[in-house]
Amino acid sequence: MSSHPLPPLAQIPAQIAAPSDYEAFARERMSIGAWAYINGGAADELTAAENSAAFSRLRLRQQVLADLRNASTELELLGDTFDYPIFLAPIAYQKLAHPQGELLTALGASAMRAGMVVSTQASTSLEDIATAASAPLWFQLYIQPDRSFTENLVRRAEQAGYRALVLTVDAPVNGVRNHEQRAGFRLPAEVDAVNLHGMRAVPEHTAQAGGSALFGSPLLASAPTWKDVEWLVGLTRLPVVLKGITNAEDAQRAIEFGAAGIIVSNHGGRTLDTMPATIDALPAVAKAVNRRIPILLDGGIRRGTDIFKALALGATATLIGRPYIYGLAAAGAPGVAHVLHMLRTELEITMALTGRPTLNDIDASALCSSSPPYA
Ligand code: FNR
Ligand code: LAC
Repeated sequence: MSSHPLPPLAQIPAQIAAPSDYEAFARERMSIGAWAYINGGAADELTAAENSAAFSRLRLRQQVLADLRNASTELELLGDTFDYPIFLAPIAYQKLAHPQGELLTALGASAMRAGMVVSTQASTSLEDIATAASAPLWFQLYIQPDRSFTENLVRRAEQAGYRALVLTVDAPVNGVRNHEQRAGFRLPAEVDAVNLHGMRAVPEHTAQAGGSALFGSPLLASAPTWKDVEWLVGLTRLPVVLKGITNAEDAQRAIEFGAAGIIVSNHGGRTLDTMPATIDALPAVAKAVNRRIPILLDGGIRRGTDIFKALALGATATLIGRPYIYGLAAAGAPGVAHVLHMLRTELEITMALTGRPTLNDIDASALCSSSPPYA
């Protein structure tokens, strides 16, 4: 299960022209179990598929002969300036994809000066990743049943120079991971959530015969609530971004509870299957937020046109998940950098062809009406 069937590529082959071309190269370099974990979604994987399908249904409006002399993808976000609106989403256990895991992702992101979000469940210590990276890092936090351990994680992230906390709120329990179950996936011994070492374990829940495995368990009893958001915001000087907001009510509450930003995300379709695509959930969230805090979006982004569509419907920036993990598995740091480079270039081409020289010029008027005939 832990063997990597083929070594990473020493050179990136010419037939890799688009981010999705990495998928096949990644797959043959991962065990069946690791592939099931990384590529899979929850249950029937309808939401995972819908995330991309919904982008494909949107049509762009071209606008010709615009003045593109001052074209730029630069943006300000949470007090920092970024060259372009593409971040690396938090992905756990990256040593499943490449023996050096997160360290190489940090190098790839740094080479492309892209922001990277480091998972609580990274297989490399958050301090080692910070040492390797020259690009700005954000730390993704899962509030642990042990709140004092959680506070210590926050202090470590602050100390190591992380610029923001991304509190993931959509996964108090794992989704129904049938794909992993069918593949018999288990974490290999050498891949581990090292940042959680020393944490008090949740007591085992022994359901009575015929009783619930989940309801009444210590895991649910200690699951985070809005009170914990308030606690975290009061605890840290870092901006807190809530990841996993998909409707107007939750977006409104996020603002009330002090979030500095939100990420519209359904966890890449890995938690609640049959949720809508994030791009279809975005307009209602953007309307409720009404520009009070920045909105980021992830889920199903595979092309520069997808990033453009997210910006058109109200996102300030986007994150990619599986695509850079495919780059990492196939070719290490250069693979991660190449995926970022391709998406950035595709975004720039899209902006040029739609006559939108800056990110502020990208709005809903760059999309066609919902069905033909288009105006
Ligand atoms: C994730 N995601 C995730 N999110 C999070 O907040 N903390 C985490 O540790 C992880 N781990 C993780 C592992 C793997 C293998 C995947 C595929 C995803 C969700 C991730 O941050 C992001 O929301 C999605 O991956 C975005 O969808 P795409 O780009 O993969 O389609
Ligand atoms: C996942 C968890 C780690 O999606 O967020 O696998």
